[in-house]
Amino acid sequence: MIFIVAAILAAFCAVWWFLGFFATCGVGLGLGILYALIFHTRWCYVALVTTPRDIRALICYFKILLLTWQLTRKNWTLPDIFHFVVQRHPEKPCFIFQDETWTFKEVEDFSLRVSAVLKANGVKKGNVVGLLVNNCPQLPALWLGNARLGGITPLINTNQRGNALIHSINVAKCDVLIFSEEYQAAVQEIASELGDSIKLFKFTHRPLNPSKSSADGSGDSVRDFTAMLETTPPATWSLADADGFHGKLLYIYTSGTTGLPKAAVISNSRFVFMASAIHHMRLQSSDTIYCPLPLYHTAGGVISVGQALLFGCTVILKSKFSASQFFPDCAKYKATIWNDFLKRFNIKHVLEFYGATEGNANIANTDGTPGAIGFVSRILPSIYPIAIIKVNQETGEPIRDSRGLCQLANPDEPGVFIGKISPNNPTREYLGYVDKSASEKKVVRDVFKYGDSAFISGDILVADELGYLYFRDRTGDTFRWRGENVSTTEVEAAISRVADHRDAVVYGVLVPNTEGRAGMCGIVDTNGSLDLDKLARDLARHLPAYARPVFIRVMTSMDMTGTFKMKKIDLQKEGFDPSLVKNDKLYYLDLKQGRYLPLGADEYEKIGNGKIRL
Ligand SMILES: *[C@@H]1O[C@H](CO)[C@@H](O)[C@H](O)[C@H]1NC(C)=O
Ligand SMILES: *[C@@H]1O[C@H](CO)[C@@H](O)[C@H](O)[C@H]1NC(C)=O
Ligand SMILES: *[C@@H]1O[C@H](CO)[C@@H](O)[C@H](O)[C@H]1NC(C)=O
Repeated sequence: MIFIVAAILAAFCAVWWFLGFFATCGVGLGLGILYALIFHTRWCYVALVTTPRDIRALICYFKILLLTWQLTRKNWTLPDIFHFVVQRHPEKPCFIFQDETWTFKEVEDFSLRVSAVLKANGVKKGNVVGLLVNNCPQLPALWLGNARLGGITPLINTNQRGNALIHSINVAKCDVLIFSEEYQAAVQEIASELGDSIKLFKFTHRPLNPSKSSADGSGDSVRDFTAMLETTPPATWSLADADGFHGKLLYIYTSGTTGLPKAAVISNSRFVFMASAIHHMRLQSSDTIYCPLPLYHTAGGVISVGQALLFGCTVILKSKFSASQFFPDCAKYKATIWNDFLKRFNIKHVLEFYGATEGNANIANTDGTPGAIGFVSRILPSIYPIAIIKVNQETGEPIRDSRGLCQLANPDEPGVFIGKISPNNPTREYLGYVDKSASEKKVVRDVFKYGDSAFISGDILVADELGYLYFRDRTGDTFRWRGENVSTTEVEAAISRVADHRDAVVYGVLVPNTEGRAGMCGIVDTNGSLDLDKLARDLARHLPAYARPVFIRVMTSMDMTGTFKMKKIDLQKEGFDPSLVKNDKLYYLDLKQGRYLPLGADEYEKIGNGKIRL
C-alpha cells in the first residue's frame, strides 16, 4: 500500500517537473475519475443520470427561497403582495368564471369592499371569518378582504352538512360565517349548535349594484352580505394590519383517517411556498390556468388561485369539475398547460406534485418520469430533508433500532415518507392543525438523532436506485387475514377492473373468534346488472385467496362527494351485521362453491358461532 502511494506521488512529481502545475491537476483529476469509474461504477452512473435533474430542482428551490426571503424582509401578507401584482397590470383578467371576467383591479376593489363591511361589523385582527361559499371569483376576494384586517379565513368544504359542518365551524372558532345562499337551509338547521356570538352572513353571487340600497331583512338573524357590500363604500387601500408574512392566513380542512375534518393552518409564507413551488417548475405569468377544483382545498384554493394572486396568471374557475366540459373549456379559454395535450395527446411535460395540506413533506416529479411522484437527490440526499424510513406497515409505527432511532429504508424497500421539521423555514415548517392534539399525532420524534422531529405523512413510498419516489400505499389501508397483509387499494383496483369500473370500497371487518380482519367490499350496482358469480370467478383469477373479499355489500349508490375515508369508517362500523345494514344486500363467500351467497340473520348467527366457516 505504502509502495503504491509512494509510486503515485513520484509520478505526480515527475509530471509536475516536466509538464507544470495545470497538467498535474489534470492528471490528478483524470486518475480520480478513473478510480471512481472502476471502483464506484454504479455510483458514477447514478450521478451522471441524475445531476441535471438535481440542478434544475435546486434552481427552482433557490428561486422559492429567494422569494420567501424577500417577502420575509418586507413582512408582507397576501393582500399586500396581491396589490403589487395588481399595480403591474390592473386591467388584465385575473379570474374568468362562466361569462364573467374579473380584472385584477376588480378583484382588489371587491376585496376592499369586503374589508370595509367586515370592519363595520366589528371584525378585527385575529378574528376568524369562515367561508362556506361555492367556487366563484369573489371567494378569494372575500378572504383577501378579511386578511387585510388581520383576520383568518377557514375555507369550509361545501359538501358538509350536520355534525361535520358544526365541527368545522366550531373547531376553527369562527366569529363570522359567510355562506352561499344555497346553503341557507343547511346552516339554519345547525344554527342552534353554533356559538351564540357567531354572526351569520348570506352571500349571493350577483353583479354588485352599489346604487341600489337594498332592504336588509330587519329582525332576521341572517344578514345579506351582498346587500351590505352594495351599501358600504370600499375601504381605501392600505397595507394589511396583520401578523406579517409568517402570520396565519387560512384554515384548510383535511379529511383525516380518524373521522371528523381537521383544520390545517396555512400561513402567508406557506401559501407562497406552495404556490411558488408549482409556479417555478415551469409556469410563467403569461400562462392561463384552468381550475375545475374546489377552492376550499389546497390544490384549487392555494396552488391554482395563488398563480393569479402572486404571479399574475389568469385563472379560469369552474363551479365544479365536469368531465364533458373539460376539453372544450381548455380549448375555449386557451389554457396553456394543456396545449400539448390538445395537440393529439403529444404530451411534452406533465408536472406532478405530492404534498399534504398540513404537512411539510412536499415533492414533485419535475422531469416527467412515468409513475414517479418526485425524487430525492442521491448525490446529496440531505439537501432536501425528506426521507423514507422503515415502518411497521400494519400499525404505521416507525421501526426503531437498538438506540431507539428510526432507520432509513433501502432502495426498493417500502417505508413511510417523512419531512424533517425546522421552524421558520416555510419549506420545512410544520404548522399542524388548529387542534393541537391532532397535530402531535402526525409528529415523530427522535428520528435520526435525539431531539429532532419530523412530520409523518402516513404514506408508504418506495425509492428506486436513482432516487425517484413511487407511491405504494397508505398506512392503515391494510388489514391482515389468514396471516397475510392485504392492501385495500390493491383489492379495490382489482374489483374495479373486473366489475366494469364500478365504484368499490374495501375494508377489513372483525369476525367473532377469528384472528385478523376479513375483507369486505362495498360495491355500487345502480341497475341490478352486477353478476356476483362472475365477480367471484374473476376475483379468483386476479387475487390471491386471502385477498378476496369474504363479504360483499351491494349498494345502490355511494355518495362520493364527502370524504372517501370517512365513508370507509362508517361502512366498517356496520360490518356484515344484517341488523345494522338495512338498505343494502349482504353476501358471504361460500368456500366450497366459490360463490357469493345471501347473508341474512340466520347466516350471520352461524358465522358467529362457527357453523359457517369462512
Ligand atoms: C412582521 O410583522 C409582525 C406584525 O406586525 C411582527 O410581529 C413581526 O415581528 C414582523 N416580522 C418581521 C420579520 O419583521
Ligand atoms: C405483514 O406486515 C407485517 C408488519 O409490517 C410484517 O411483519 C409481515 O411480515 C407481513 N407479512 C407478509 C406475509 O407480508
Ligand atoms: C348498468 O351499469 C353499469 C355500470 O354502472 C354499466 O356498465 C351497464 O352497462 C349498465 N347496464 C344496463 C343494462 O344499463
